[in-house]
Amino acid sequence: RKPPSRKGSMADVPRDLLDEIKRLEDMFTIPTDKLKAITNHFVGELTKGLTKEGGSIPMNVTWCMGYPTGYETGTFLALDMGGTNLRVCEIRLPEAKGEFDIIQSKYRMPEELKTGNADELWGYIADCLQQFIEYHHEGEELEKLPLGFTFSYPATQDAIDHGVLQRWTKGFDIDGVEGQDVVPPFEAALKERGVPIKLTALINDTTGTLIASAYTDTDMKIGCIFGTGCNAAYMENVGSIPKLEGMDLDPELPMAINCEWGAFDNEHVILPRTPYDIIIDKESPRPGQQAFEKMIAGLYLGELFRLVLVDLHENQNVKIFEGQDIKKLRKPYSLDSSFLSAIEEDPFENLSNTQDLIQKELDIKCSRAELELVRRLSELIGTRAARLSACGVAAICKKKGYETAHVGADGSVFNKYPHFKQRGAQALREILDWPEPKSRKEKDPIEIMAAEDGSGVGAALIAALTLKRVQEGNL
Ligand code: GLC
Repeated sequence: RKPPSRKGSMADVPRDLLDEIKRLEDMFTIPTDKLKAITNHFVGELTKGLTKEGGSIPMNVTWCMGYPTGYETGTFLALDMGGTNLRVCEIRLPEAKGEFDIIQSKYRMPEELKTGNADELWGYIADCLQQFIEYHHEGEELEKLPLGFTFSYPATQDAIDHGVLQRWTKGFDIDGVEGQDVVPPFEAALKERGVPIKLTALINDTTGTLIASAYTDTDMKIGCIFGTGCNAAYMENVGSIPKLEGMDLDPELPMAINCEWGAFDNEHVILPRTPYDIIIDKESPRPGQQAFEKMIAGLYLGELFRLVLVDLHENQNVKIFEGQDIKKLRKPYSLDSSFLSAIEEDPFENLSNTQDLIQKELDIKCSRAELELVRRLSELIGTRAARLSACGVAAICKKKGYETAHVGADGSVFNKYPHFKQRGAQALREILDWPEPKSRKEKDPIEIMAAEDGSGVGAALIAALTLKRVQEGNL
């Protein structure tokens, strides 16, 4: 593997820091053989998740049954409750193939809400929807608008317009929602406010991403999110989903599966977790859950970085930030992945942005050697995340026998983290034994590319597909 090119050298870095960097490199670097072993184990876990007994990966059946044709039509609302923002969209699908118009508003998801109570959550969401409708449809006499609700948490569904939350992920911890169908309290909050909306489909962001991307590209086979959380969806045939046996469904029917692969290796048998990963898990609201996600997703990258630096500062063998007050660095979750992105974007020659950023956010002054350590640490954390992500994609492709495919990916880490795409592509080549492309134009057989807007357009498309199935008497 080629290390990222850098001008200058580490010649000025003192011995104790060099040793520490080496230790971190050994801890965070995942060699090709290990990636292959993780992928093979992953294939088995995907299969297990589809059985009646189940495994650690939920492999949730979504009742999103088939790809769009590109000719879906109608006007839909979409509500996107991800990990960070709340977004309301109105999407118009015109006659023209693969086209859409969208208007949207973003609302902040108040931090307190994430650990508050269920009534506050549904009330807040219903208020946002009400505001959106009042603003965009003032004074209009409205028929109930169909809504695709992107609820990006693991939910078991026995129909597309219901979903029982299995457990909160991404740091959410709202009482009284786990184990419950989320639709009735959501609809009750709308009714209380007289908001004219009918929930048509409850979907996951990954399923939305798969469907939205397939709307414009028929080679799309997998939808992925690399953002606050990390997950993927793909299409199975009903006949390959043993947990649907006995339901009297045509085995040839396609069914999107929301893998919830963040739960991969919850039993800790294969992932090379560092002591820092173990702390993240222990201190999280759901210890023992989302082992894979906690090593990859944007929510955790900055926290991993922070934990390593605090540890080094306290470590007797190495001197970093000596004599400085690291009070700010001690605050859990004070750094998000955009902090690491900014460090990785900084030209290595002088690392002056990194210097300024650390001074501004943490009140810490860094020597050149410390700046180099901080940079290397960001690279290690970002690279590990990208390489592990590739294992999940490779596992789905292996399970399905896809030799060529497009994989639609969305999320802040995929879209904004420097080199994430290239590092992921490199890892896929290593896992699947592909040669290096000879030119920039040459494409890999399986390509992870930017997706269409899954939680907006994807949710609208799935609502359209659902209404069509209702009309045809298939639901
Ligand atoms: C978490 C959620 C999952 C979602 C992913 C990306 O893993 O459990 O449902 O798809 O984050 O947002």
